[in-house]
Amino acid sequence: MALGHKADKSFFDRKKPWSRHKDLVLNYYLPPYLAKVGRLGSPILLVDGFAGPGKFGDGSRGSPLIIAENAATAFHRGTAVRVLCIEQDVELYSELVTNTATYPMVECRNGTLQNFLPDIASAAETHTVFLYVDPYAIEGLDWAAFDTVFRHVQASSMSIEILMNFNAVAFVRRARAAMKMTAPEIEDGEDETSDPADSLPIGSELLSRAVGGDWWLDVLREGLSFPKEVGAIVDGVCRCLGKRFKEVCHLMVKERWGHAVPKYALVFGSRHPHALMLMNNAAARSREAFADMEKPGSPTLFETRPLDLVPDQSLLRKRLRDLAASPMRRIELVQTVMRREFGHFTDSEITGCIRKMLTEGILVSETGKAIINDFVRVWTRRS
Ligand SMILES: C[S@@+](CC[C@H](N)C(=O)[O-])C[C@H]1O[C@@H](n2cnc3c(N)ncnc32)[C@H](O)[C@@H]1O
Repeated sequence: MALGHKADKSFFDRKKPWSRHKDLVLNYYLPPYLAKVGRLGSPILLVDGFAGPGKFGDGSRGSPLIIAENAATAFHRGTAVRVLCIEQDVELYSELVTNTATYPMVECRNGTLQNFLPDIASAAETHTVFLYVDPYAIEGLDWAAFDTVFRHVQASSMSIEILMNFNAVAFVRRARAAMKMTAPEIEDGEDETSDPADSLPIGSELLSRAVGGDWWLDVLREGLSFPKEVGAIVDGVCRCLGKRFKEVCHLMVKERWGHAVPKYALVFGSRHPHALMLMNNAAARSREAFADMEKPGSPTLFETRPLDLVPDQSLLRKRLRDLAASPMRRIELVQTVMRREFGHFTDSEITGCIRKMLTEGILVSETGKAIINDFVRVWTRRS
């Protein structure tokens, strides 16, 4: 398959600011994930399916090194974990081999992820598998091929998860070009760094192959605004993943907080509600790290940072009041909030807010106490 010009290796000269977000999420997610699945007793396989060279020209770590370092920590604690890094480009592959040489649990392979999916699918019968998919844009996404691994979510009892960087903006641009529709209209300043290659038409069959069907044509026919169209495509991809994974969530990563159009969506699929909680916390912690960086130098009377960077705490209280209209165990309430407001609040923020609302008498617990465990049922007091 022909690659767009992003395959130009200048991509790896300097890490783009918005790429740091996916790195943070990965780096926050892997330690609790490895601790958790390490206790399941099965060997763990972490796959970086679009690995790149491992290091950028500015010295920053690429995903293979982030994964390798986390795996090494778990490995030295006695967890049976190995890492498979796959890179298509021969030169980048050779850099990858050099950059990961000090990690004995890392294996590098030259070829496409598709080439190695049969090996990954058979490993999924005996291993816990985490698959990280980070292509340049649309090329390399092959839903039917990926599904040979995803189907093990239902076919085997093993834990399989995917974290995918999905460039929905490139998808919509290319889909519009393929359908000979006008280019999307974008707010001023929201698209300074877009890549012209993202507007090159590719055949509609390649677009359908990337997202598991031609459902995207219906989205285009709706005549939505560009940000809504991008959101609807991400929702469609999540629905496709939802056919295999019980828990699917996504995070929109923007070039600047407050923008309407994301640079990419990080889409996550797992069968475990507990994994949803870990990923939610990783997303919330990475957002908090950015919020800290953007804190004004001197204190301000009102919050000046955008809501997608610093979520409104009153939204959490409102959500809890609405969602607890019928009784549910505290853990279910926490997970339901996370599904609605993914990455906005950590589990401790949500449980802290539940406790406060129990103290205030806005929520009621079946024990009558404000300090409760995950299995105590809570509900909203009727006024
Ligand atoms: C966006 S870069 C990955 C960056 C990397 N995840 C990181 O954070 O450092 C995509 C990489 O995938 C490689 N690639 C493209 N198509 C591929 C395929 N089908 N299978 C494996 N690698 C592929 C490209 O050569 C490129 O190095």
